[in-house]
Amino acid sequence: MPTKTKKKTKPARKGGDRAHRYTAKTADRHELYQLSVQNVEAEIDFVDATFTQLRGRPGRILREDFAGTANSACEWVRRRETNSAVAVDLDEPTLEWGRTHNVERLDEAAQQRIRLDCADVRTPGSHGRGVDIVLAMNFSYWIFETRDTLRAYFESVRDSLDDEGVFFLDFYGGSDAMSETRETRKINRHLTYIWDQAAYDPISGHMSCRIHFKFPDGSVMNNAFEYEWRLWTLPEIRELLAEAGFEDVLVYWEGTDEDDEEQGNGEFTPVKTGDADPAYICYIVAQKKALKVVETQERPE
Ligand SMILES: C[S@@+](CC[C@H](N)C(=O)[O-])C[C@H]1O[C@@H](n2cnc3c(N)ncnc32)[C@H](O)[C@@H]1O
Repeated sequence: MPTKTKKKTKPARKGGDRAHRYTAKTADRHELYQLSVQNVEAEIDFVDATFTQLRGRPGRILREDFAGTANSACEWVRRRETNSAVAVDLDEPTLEWGRTHNVERLDEAAQQRIRLDCADVRTPGSHGRGVDIVLAMNFSYWIFETRDTLRAYFESVRDSLDDEGVFFLDFYGGSDAMSETRETRKINRHLTYIWDQAAYDPISGHMSCRIHFKFPDGSVMNNAFEYEWRLWTLPEIRELLAEAGFEDVLVYWEGTDEDDEEQGNGEFTPVKTGDADPAYICYIVAQKKALKVVETQERPE
């Protein structure tokens, strides 16, 4: 996933020095993904605090859509004994990896509060009602490439939420997002992550992206993950959420690091207008019912 070349990087995951024993042949791609792409602690910090601010109480039931290894859902149930989660993904082997490597590392009680379901996010079955929070992170919803398919997914999320429910998505944009380019980032001394925007078609907005990993012995795990999706714009997503019936759609923009204006500071606040950053990641927070009027800043600080 993109991590901002110029500005506003999702904070690096803590303790990312575990992949030392790997070469391209022996490494586990899911472990590498969790180390280099995800920061579920920071993500759940934001989700937990924002929901509590909006509703005056903590959330309880969370659904992680496009869950992959269910890393965020595990972090949610780890937080509080009143928290429960369901993680939904189409790919059973990836969910199975999550059961073995993430769920089984939770304490017994937390394991009872999480379920991993192999299903399409548009037909979530038994967890299709009364959910407090739905997550669609790391731009996974971009696999829906037409307005109709994306709106239909958003409508099914709205229907799944309790009336007090909130939908959280992340978004990547800026002029860099539209270029065919590679971003290389050293995760630790044993692992280099390569985000490859391999092809972009300005007419359809279709984009092909890849993740590769490089190791100290010179070996490379090419195409560890491949994505075919549409590069949407932020106004399009806001409009589609509104068309799907979300009564309030807010954008939370990242502040700027005091010492380095090229970097984000990890703090996201609701804004009316953004900055023309060449690369940014922001959160979109959609309330099913506009139960709280949120004060937005004119511009990010
Ligand atoms: C980029 S991964 C997301 C992993 C993780 N949630 C994250 O934030 O990094 C996208 C996942 O979406 C899943 N997926 C794609 N289409 C789906 C659908 N229609 N329903 C459920 N899962 C889907 C894929 O199997 C894949 O595991």
